[in-house]
Amino acid sequence: MRISFSSDRASTQAVDVVAVIVPQGKLAAAVADLDGADGFGGALAGAARDDTFEGRSGTTFWTPALGRIAARRVVLVGAGPAGVSDLRAAAGVAGRQARDKGAKSVALYSADTAFAGEGISLAIEAFAEGNYRFDKYKPVAQRKAPADELRFVGVAEDAAAVARAEALAAGQELARNLVNEPAAEVHPDSLAAVAEGLANGDDITVVASWDFDTIRAKGMGGIAAVGQGSDIKPRFVHLRYEPKGGAKAHVALVGKGVTFDSGGLSLKPSDGMMTMRCDMAGSAAVIGVMKALSASRPNVRVDVIFGAVENMPSGNSYKLGDILTMYSGKRVEIHNTDAEGRLVLADCLHYASGLKPDVVVDLATLTGAAVVALGDWYTALYSREDTTANQLLSAAGTCGEAAWRMPLPDLYRDKIKAEWGETKNTGGRAAGSITAALFLSDFVTTPKWAHLDIAGPAFLDTPLLHYVQGGTGIMVRTLCRWIHGLGE
Ligand code: BES
Ligand code: MN
Ligand code: ZN
Repeated sequence: MRISFSSDRASTQAVDVVAVIVPQGKLAAAVADLDGADGFGGALAGAARDDTFEGRSGTTFWTPALGRIAARRVVLVGAGPAGVSDLRAAAGVAGRQARDKGAKSVALYSADTAFAGEGISLAIEAFAEGNYRFDKYKPVAQRKAPADELRFVGVAEDAAAVARAEALAAGQELARNLVNEPAAEVHPDSLAAVAEGLANGDDITVVASWDFDTIRAKGMGGIAAVGQGSDIKPRFVHLRYEPKGGAKAHVALVGKGVTFDSGGLSLKPSDGMMTMRCDMAGSAAVIGVMKALSASRPNVRVDVIFGAVENMPSGNSYKLGDILTMYSGKRVEIHNTDAEGRLVLADCLHYASGLKPDVVVDLATLTGAAVVALGDWYTALYSREDTTANQLLSAAGTCGEAAWRMPLPDLYRDKIKAEWGETKNTGGRAAGSITAALFLSDFVTTPKWAHLDIAGPAFLDTPLLHYVQGGTGIMVRTLCRWIHGLGE
């Protein structure tokens, strides 16, 4: 998508659609440039009012331009009470509208608040989010290309802001595509291959890419057990970004990479299994972050680690009552083969801790309990340490990815105490997302660690705000912003 800037009036933009951002209650002022005597002559505000459009956030009003202005159509996008985040959200709605109405070129215009710097980046990212489509499996005639031009009207060019946004949007798009692809396409081998494809022989390298035999030989009992039931055996991947000018911080990112979660012998019912190709969204996100960083190059060393596994029932599957010896040496009793993510993550977290980074962050579609608690919009954030938690919450807030901090009470540790081994992989129905996080915490040895349970927002069953259903690439932009902040 081409990003351009124009200092000409909104009414002279020869594009498919002019998207006008309308702060709530400020309709007349917002459309004044289009609604003058040389344009709609007052008819635009009038028609919008007749349609009860008043600029509430997320609402839109479409009209053909009928030759009154240079563009073919106009969409008014409600921004609610004004502010930069509202501009960002409105840009997202504009992107989604362009997608749904097949607009190829879009001019984005706000009479009220100017887009600048970070605001430009956020608007581009949101527009790209809204304009996303995954229709490669549709008949050719039904496939549509996304918009190919976004033009900022009355905004000064900012090449750096555009470059930042493009890097982030590309990383997020990769994550979304990986999540949306069927599990027959994205399986442990192909997921590993995509990650390894990001290596450039320069500042991004493949540090480790282990097959099943190596995983077992290294003692990664969690990854081996979960992956052994599938005909496609597990892979362990470690990529590194090493900044050229020296690093101001060192981060390790760990992603859950269950390319399909059938539940294993604790088989899921079909309803619950239907979307479980999304269970690698954590690793898709960290791969997306790596892709974004390869373009934006922060002064931070970033290690990306994931175990790619398929959780399947078969004659080789791991079983209930098994006692696994994990990479850290801990013995874990298996009470449910569907609580597989924490086993894969545990080995990755122990490995990541061994790299002695300043901080480890893991992302996982870990628990249905997180969805029950927070729904589709919020990532559940766990951390024992306020600095990292607040940094992540702040980065998420900036770019409109919602995160909510959850408690990690030691009081609940009893729930994962085992009878035979040291710990078990389920903690009962109550506080299921918390006990999963507590389980993970036992495999982290760095002082700073955060866990993001993205089971809700990683994959949408129905459209939400400007996101269409399917993968969202959630947390790619939050993590990139956070990492850039550490390098400044
Ligand atoms: N991948 C699922 C969690 C999940 C559920 C992700 C819904 C996205 C949407 C995870 O592996 C799982 O099955 N968790 C179980 C754990 C339980 C058996 C302790 C769950 O949440 O039911
Ligand atoms: Mn599961
Ligand atoms: Zn899972």
